[in-house]
Amino acid sequence: MKVLIVGSGGREHAIAWKTAQSKKVDKIYCAPGNAGISEVAECVPIGAMEFDKLAAFAREKEIDLTVIGMDDPLVGGIVDKFEAEGLRVFGPRKNAAILEGSKAFSKNLMKKYGIPTAAYETFRDPDEAVRYLKTAKYPIVLKADGLALGKGVLICKTYEEAKEGVRTLMLDKKFGSAGDEIVIEEFMTGREVSVLSFVDGNTIKIMSSAQDHKRAKDNDEGLNTGGMGNFSPSPFYTPEIDAFCKKHIYQPTVDAMKTEGRPFKGVIFFGLMLTADGPKVLEYNARFGDPEAQVVLPRLENDIVDVFEACIDGTLDQIDLKFDNDRATVCVILASDGYPLEYKKGFPIEGLENFRDKDGYYVFHSGTKFDENGRIVTNGGRVLGVTANGATLKEARENAYRATEWVSFENKYMRHDIGKSIDEAR
Ligand code: AMP
Ligand code: GLY
Repeated sequence: MKVLIVGSGGREHAIAWKTAQSKKVDKIYCAPGNAGISEVAECVPIGAMEFDKLAAFAREKEIDLTVIGMDDPLVGGIVDKFEAEGLRVFGPRKNAAILEGSKAFSKNLMKKYGIPTAAYETFRDPDEAVRYLKTAKYPIVLKADGLALGKGVLICKTYEEAKEGVRTLMLDKKFGSAGDEIVIEEFMTGREVSVLSFVDGNTIKIMSSAQDHKRAKDNDEGLNTGGMGNFSPSPFYTPEIDAFCKKHIYQPTVDAMKTEGRPFKGVIFFGLMLTADGPKVLEYNARFGDPEAQVVLPRLENDIVDVFEACIDGTLDQIDLKFDNDRATVCVILASDGYPLEYKKGFPIEGLENFRDKDGYYVFHSGTKFDENGRIVTNGGRVLGVTANGATLKEARENAYRATEWVSFENKYMRHDIGKSIDEAR
């Protein structure tokens, strides 16, 4: 089989690496890919939003399966384009990817179907939003409706801050048309858990849980990022919580999408908060998380291509999804200092060979490329996801931090407390 993967981050590297282990697969392409992905796939210089070129490439190379890693092409309708051309593709259609593409849509869906989430209102008129904020309870949360690289969420402590937030999102249009509509919602407290799942339109199968670290700095300080590291499984995600979520969140979401005429096939990523009133949905994503994929896929025991195909064919009920529960995984992101704001790139990366043949250690590339001399250099805010397994989460964390010392580049930055909250769980 020939597989094409669309995307260029650490998530796509993890997907490509796992796909390369499939007995069914002879050849993998990745568009556009990165320097690390080129170890397991042939990278082709086509952008993730160039749907016509991607479909033409898939036809020309007789690709048997295309896997979409990123949110933008999914929300933009890449799956519809591929399906219209008779190409097999893993991911939700545009009318289902809206689960991630519009927070107003997802909040309204949850309200309509009684899926637990924070209380909220939606606004298209900034004056109305500000009027509402005058009598609201603080802190309060403002969210741009559309995609904003995980950065369109503002937590405001005072009315003044929230009013400024409305200006940033709706008038200054910091995230463009993503701020045409905003969601204003109740501030919740509790631990966050990321739960990824495979869905075939009817059946949902849950992957091992993970915990992200979204803030740029230690102790959850600094700006929100795409994710600075994470661990899996989360010890806070107990069997009782799992049972509650299966009954009240996971299957109800899949059923709601089907009832709405928007059957979801692909990965649903549930961003949950474990509040004192029980688990609630913070957000949905319509794809694997990044870096959640890096800690979940190394422990997936199935042939991932079988799972992708079962989602497409509607036969997921026949798959026994299995994770290695005897091991835990931790991923520490090595970023360019300055991320998520300004940062320099183009610095050579030394020491990547240290990961070769080291069982249980992985270095997934997020933002890297080859320079004109063929050296691997930094090419993004998040550069590498240094990942390690361990018999326990503590051991996995120690292994991952040890491995962060194996690689060096100018401007290397990381958090030092990924997985530290595990200690509190004991
Ligand atoms: P989202 O992109 O909606 O997951 O939001 C990004 C981050 O903002 C989440 O991971 C939470 O840390 C925080 N957040 C979002 N919504 C809320 C809320 N209602 N209460 C408290 N924190 C929130
Ligand atoms: N790590 C969070 C995300 O992928 O959205």
